[in-house]
Amino acid sequence: MVGNDVVDLSDPETRPETLHPRFDGRVFDAIERAQVDAADDPDRQRWRLWAAKEATYKLVKKLAPATVFSPRRFLVRFDGSPWGQVQVGARRFGVQLIERAREVHAIAMRLEDLALPLVHGVRRLERDEPAAWLSWGPSTAVRRFGIEAIARAVGARAGEFSIVREGRIPKLVWRDRPAPADLSLSHHGELVAFACSLKDPAPWSPAKS
Ligand SMILES: CC(C)(COP(=O)(O)OP(=O)(O)OC[C@H]1O[C@@H](n2cnc3c(N)ncnc32)[C@H](O)[C@@H]1OP(=O)(O)O)[C@@H](O)C(=O)NCCC(=O)NCCS
Repeated sequence: MVGNDVVDLSDPETRPETLHPRFDGRVFDAIERAQVDAADDPDRQRWRLWAAKEATYKLVKKLAPATVFSPRRFLVRFDGSPWGQVQVGARRFGVQLIERAREVHAIAMRLEDLALPLVHGVRRLERDEPAAWLSWGPSTAVRRFGIEAIARAVGARAGEFSIVREGRIPKLVWRDRPAPADLSLSHHGELVAFACSLKDPAPWSPAKS
């Protein structure tokens, strides 16, 4: 099972001056706050920690639907590498960061799922994107983006996939049945992102025409 969260660092709402003065105190524990304060780039470190918490929340919500997002209960531990852990109560989860110049993408997984094949991606919907992509809202764009990338990764046709909602949680459908995969979607600013863990071995095969 997987959860993901993307943060667009070029979005004005990530600037420190737009945050509530007590944001860090409300959201982070003492160890996380110390990491933000000591970081070469405190803003990026803040959003790494935040994305890890939200990605883990989306994962935990699937395991325990009654979970409430209380950011301080999601304790994030990074040691400078792109891999970290998030503790929620007695449970621990793995979290991976994938970063580029203006973005932070966090993917959370159950520790027992870390060896599963993972498909993931981030796409920035800037002005030079095809007009159709820019006209769709982020919910449509992230679904198109995720389906195209997953289909490419497993060697199936994009037209065989769809994404339905169970409550607010996205579920991948393949050939009209629940896909042997777990999906998570995210969008922020100009970015759309997804992560999808594939159950191994998955019965993907090229479609017969
Ligand atoms: C789930 C939640 C964390 C999503 O965060 P977000 O930053 O608004 O949105 P993102 O773009 O990262 O993710 C949105 C996608 O997550 C998925 N999603 C929504 N709720 C979800 C849930 N409970 N569990 C798993 N995935 C969920 C959906 O696919 C959604 O995309 P869609 O609306 O296009 O279908 C947020 O909506 C939420 O429920 N928060 C809890 C309450 C809260 O906001 N507390 C804040 C206290 S600081």
